[in-house]
Amino acid sequence: MGDRLYRGRRLRRSAALRRLVRETRLSPEALILPLFIEPGEGVRKAVPSMPGVFRTSVDEALHDAAEARELGLGGVMLFGVPANKDEEGTGAWAPDGVVQTAVRALKADLPDLLVVTDVCLCEYTSHGHCGVIENGDVANDPTCDLLARTAVSHADAGADIVAPSDMMDGRVGVIRAALDESRFQEIPIMSYAVKYASAFYGPFRDAADSMPSFGDRSGYQMDPANAEEAIREAKADLREGADILMVKPALAYLDVIQSVKAHTGAPVAAYHVSGEYSAIMAAIERGWLDERAMLEALISIRRAGADVIVSYWARELARRGP
Ligand code: PBG
Repeated sequence: MGDRLYRGRRLRRSAALRRLVRETRLSPEALILPLFIEPGEGVRKAVPSMPGVFRTSVDEALHDAAEARELGLGGVMLFGVPANKDEEGTGAWAPDGVVQTAVRALKADLPDLLVVTDVCLCEYTSHGHCGVIENGDVANDPTCDLLARTAVSHADAGADIVAPSDMMDGRVGVIRAALDESRFQEIPIMSYAVKYASAFYGPFRDAADSMPSFGDRSGYQMDPANAEEAIREAKADLREGADILMVKPALAYLDVIQSVKAHTGAPVAAYHVSGEYSAIMAAIERGWLDERAMLEALISIRRAGADVIVSYWARELARRGP
């Protein structure tokens, strides 16, 4: 049988051939590395539930960011872990807050490294919810105003992109208006348009110290069973002025990444979240999987249609080369 016209194996015969016809590539510039910043100096604390991830002070974060820049990563995304929390989360928009201070230092040191800031209140509120509480529930509209103040304070410090992750209704519009009024018309919004109430955020809440003290987030984050709703959320955020749409988590929602891309044609980011990362890392530590599992997970997110991937493994990936 020498007459098979189609032989898929012809192009799989060598690494060079496979590389030549590879459809999806994970280039470093499409990856964003999250950094957790806390006050102090010389602080570098391992996050126990996230192997390879640290909470650092600003001076230490500068080393991580310099490495990210050196490796050609697309940027870093900052999360603040403040010294003090209160009912309203006032630390979120403090001009000398932990994120604002970090942004200033990063932009002074590494002006061409893209700095994205997470805009949310949960790291700053004493109760751990993503907004202010009224009558036992997160009050939507008052929270939007505080998020807008937070976003403006980040832009004022020099952030290149603000990324609201709270899932309040209408917050992208309120943030856009506030940025525009404060001379930040050109600062893009990467909105967590499609954020599910996921169990995969567990390790992050350890890292950021943001576990809700009562209830959960299913009153504002999306039901994991819903895919059509994702399109409504994505379109609503675009109408309100979002520039990049985020889907989160990523691996458990590849179908959603694909359909958000297809329905909007907008730049789509996907967040390979803490639990998705730690599950693979834990298996690697036990010798049950090896690093190729992480590569496969990340390439699947890209293949599904994500233009940008937020990953705790961004540096390791970039170090491996193509
Ligand atoms: C804040 C926020 C969360 C994550 C990113 N921004 C946690 C949450 O909603 O509880 C999760 C990131 C991760 O798990 O890696 N609202």
